[in-house]
Amino acid sequence: MSPVLGAAVERVDGLAKTTGTARYSGELNLPNLAHAVLVGARVPSGRIIGIDCRRASVADGVHAVLTHLDLPRVAVRPRLFPGLFGLVAHGQSFFPMQDDVVHYAGQPVAMVVADTIERAEHAATLVEVSYAETPSVTLLDQARDQAYEPEKIFGGMLPGRGPTRGDPEAGLRDAAVRLDATYRYAPNHHNPIEPSTTTAVWDDRDRLTLYDATQGPTATQLSVAELLGLAPTRIRVVSHFVGGSFGAKALIWAHPTLAALAARQVGRPVRLVLSRDQMFHSCGHREEQEQEISLGTDPDGNLLALRHDKLSLTSHYDDWAEPSLETPAVLYASPSYAGGYRLVRGNTISPTFTRAPGAATGMFGLESAMDELACELGVDPLQLRLRNHADVDPSSGNPWSSKGLKECYQRGAELFGWAGRDPRPGQRRDGDWLIGTGMASAAYPIAAPMNPQRARARLYRDGSAVVEAGIAEFGTGAPTAMTQVAADALGLPFDRVRFVGGSSDLPNIAAAVGSAGASSTSSAVHLACTALRDQLVAQAVADAGSPLHGADPDGIVVRDGRMCRRDSPEVGESYVELLQRNHLPDVETLGSWQPPPPDGGGYGLHTFGAQFAEVAVDADLGLVRLRRLVGVFAPGRVLNRRTTHSQLLGGMIWGLGQALLEATRMDPHTGRWANASLADYLVPVNADAPDIVVDTIEVADPVVNPLGVKGVGEIGVVGTAAAIANAVHHATGRRIRDLPITVEALL
Ligand code: MOS
Repeated sequence: MSPVLGAAVERVDGLAKTTGTARYSGELNLPNLAHAVLVGARVPSGRIIGIDCRRASVADGVHAVLTHLDLPRVAVRPRLFPGLFGLVAHGQSFFPMQDDVVHYAGQPVAMVVADTIERAEHAATLVEVSYAETPSVTLLDQARDQAYEPEKIFGGMLPGRGPTRGDPEAGLRDAAVRLDATYRYAPNHHNPIEPSTTTAVWDDRDRLTLYDATQGPTATQLSVAELLGLAPTRIRVVSHFVGGSFGAKALIWAHPTLAALAARQVGRPVRLVLSRDQMFHSCGHREEQEQEISLGTDPDGNLLALRHDKLSLTSHYDDWAEPSLETPAVLYASPSYAGGYRLVRGNTISPTFTRAPGAATGMFGLESAMDELACELGVDPLQLRLRNHADVDPSSGNPWSSKGLKECYQRGAELFGWAGRDPRPGQRRDGDWLIGTGMASAAYPIAAPMNPQRARARLYRDGSAVVEAGIAEFGTGAPTAMTQVAADALGLPFDRVRFVGGSSDLPNIAAAVGSAGASSTSSAVHLACTALRDQLVAQAVADAGSPLHGADPDGIVVRDGRMCRRDSPEVGESYVELLQRNHLPDVETLGSWQPPPPDGGGYGLHTFGAQFAEVAVDADLGLVRLRRLVGVFAPGRVLNRRTTHSQLLGGMIWGLGQALLEATRMDPHTGRWANASLADYLVPVNADAPDIVVDTIEVADPVVNPLGVKGVGEIGVVGTAAAIANAVHHATGRRIRDLPITVEALL
C-alpha cells in the first residue's frame, strides 16, 4: 500500500466549504425560480372536511395552491426501506395529499407556490383547512394495550422476532444471579444544520433535474421516477454538498416529489425548503421506546440467558422499529437468547434511521444491565465483559470476519486509567461534585447494500485521473477518502486524482446509511482503479514498443504514475508514455462490487469498540458534567486518519447528547412535538464536551470487502450513553434507566 491510504489528508472540499463557495441544494440561483411552502395538518388525526384556498390563491405573487383535491396522484405507493436502493413499488407506506385522511400533525395538506419565499410563506397562512378530528395516540402510554407483534420491522427488512437460541426461560430460572430492568428512551430528532431542500427544474423536453439534499442521489432519482411514473432516464438528481443529515436524508420522503409536482404545475423551477419546525415531522425521528432486559448468570458471572424485548411507537402505515435487538443479541457468549419487537400505532410520521439506528438504544440497555450485574456480582465491569466475550458469533456459531474487542478494552483501560478503580459508588468527591467512572462496549453491524456498488475510473494522457461514483458528501469526508483510495490503487500522486460524486448520472452507489458509505464506495472505487491499472499494465506488457514488453504483469508495480518491474525498478515507463505512444486520449474502466449476502455469508459481521467515561454530578443540584471520555474502536482499514477520527469523535459527542440532552417531547393534547426548534431541542455544544480521546486498533478484515473497511460513521455513538450512565451510578449510587438523564431524575 502506498503511504496515501490512511494518511491524515486534508479535505479536498475543505476550502470550498469554509469559504462559502460550496453550493448546497438551496443556494442555486435560477431565473424564474418560484418557492413552494407546505401547509401542515393542525390536528394529529382525522379527516379534512374543507379547504378554502381563495384568499391564498389571490395573495400577491402566488402561482398556485395545491391540495389533495388537485395534486396529481403518484403512480405507486412509496415503501420506506427499499427506497435506499431506489425501489418503491408494492409497498405499504404513505404519500401525502392523495386523500383527505390525516395521520399526523404536520402532514402536508396543501402546498403554496409563489414568486418569493416570503410571499409563499404568507399565502400558506391564508389557507383555511377544517378538520373532523378523531382521537389520537402520540405516546406509548396512551395505547400500551394495543401493542401488536409485527411480522417484519425496519421497513420490512428484519423479522419481528429476534434470532432466538437455546432456552432463555430455563437459563433465567437456573441463574444464580438474575437482573430484570426496563430502559426508556425519549424520541430523538436528527437536526442537521441544513434543512431538507429540493430545487426542481423541468426542461422543455419534460426532463426533470432535482437539486436535492440527500444521502443517496441515485436512490432519490429511482424513487421519484417510480412515484411520478417516469423512466429514470428522465430524472437526474444532483447533490454535491449536503449540510449534515444523521439519517434524516436517508429515506426518500415526500418533499422531492412534491417539489417536482409543483414545478410541473407552475411551469417554472421550484424550490422547496422545509422549515426548521417542519423538519420535526417531515423526515422521521428516533421513536419513543422502552426495552425490557433480563440477564441470568452463574455464580461467576457467566451469562446463561438474555431476554430483550422492545416496545415502540410507529406510524399508522409502516411497521418501523429501529433494530435495537440485533447487536445486543450477539455481543456476549450467552448460550440462550430470545427477543422480539412489539409496536403501537401512533399519529406520527414513520420513524427512521437516527444516529446509530438501533444499536445506540439497544446497547444502552444491555450495557447498563451488564453494569448492574457487575455491581450485583461484585465483579469489575470490564472483567465481567471479558468473562462473557463472544469468541464466535453466538447466534450462528460462525467466526467473526474480524474483531479486536479485547484489544479495544485493553487500550481503552490503559488510556483512561481504569485499573485500581474502587467499585463502590459515591466514594469520590471534588468539592460539591460527586465523581464516578463507567465503561461500556461498543458494537455496530456491518451493513451492506444488496445491489452491486459501482464506480468508474478514467486516466487521461497527461497522467491525471478522474474517478466517479454517485455519492453525496454530507459531512463524512468521503470524497477525500475516495481520492486516497483511487490514488493508491492507480499508483498516482494524490493531487493527480480527482473524485467526482454528487449526481445520479454517475455509477450507482446505494444511499449511504448504516455506516456503509465508505465501505461500499471504497470497494467500487478500488475495483475500478485496480482494473484500470491492470489494463494499462497488460497493455504495456503486450506492447512491443514498451520497455515492459513481455514482463510478468504480476511483477509490475506502479508508483507516481510509472509502471516498473518490482525486481528491477529501472525498467519501466509511465502511463503517459504508454498512452501517448498508442495515441490514446484516455482509458476508462468500471468497477462493480457485489456486497456479501445479508446473512454474512458464513461470518459474523460487526465492528467493535470500548468506551470509558468520567462524570461529575453536583450533589445538590443534580447537574451532570462529563469530565473525560475515551473511545477505542477496531474499524478495520482506516482510509483517512483525520476524517476517521472526526467521525468517531462526532459519534461520541452524539452519544453524550443521547445520554444527557437529546429528547423531543410530545404534547399529547395537541399531538405535536413541543420543542420543535434548535433553541428547545438540546444538543451538545463545545462547552458540554470535554477533551475526548479517540483511538483505533488495527484489525485486518479479509472478508467484508476488498480493502477491509468496517465503517466508522456511527459506532462512536454506541456505548457512550451507557458508559456515562454507569459513571453517574458510580458517582451517586443512582441508577437512571431513562434517556436522557435529567436533573429531575437525579434529584
Ligand atoms: Mo445513518 S442514521 O444509518 O443514515
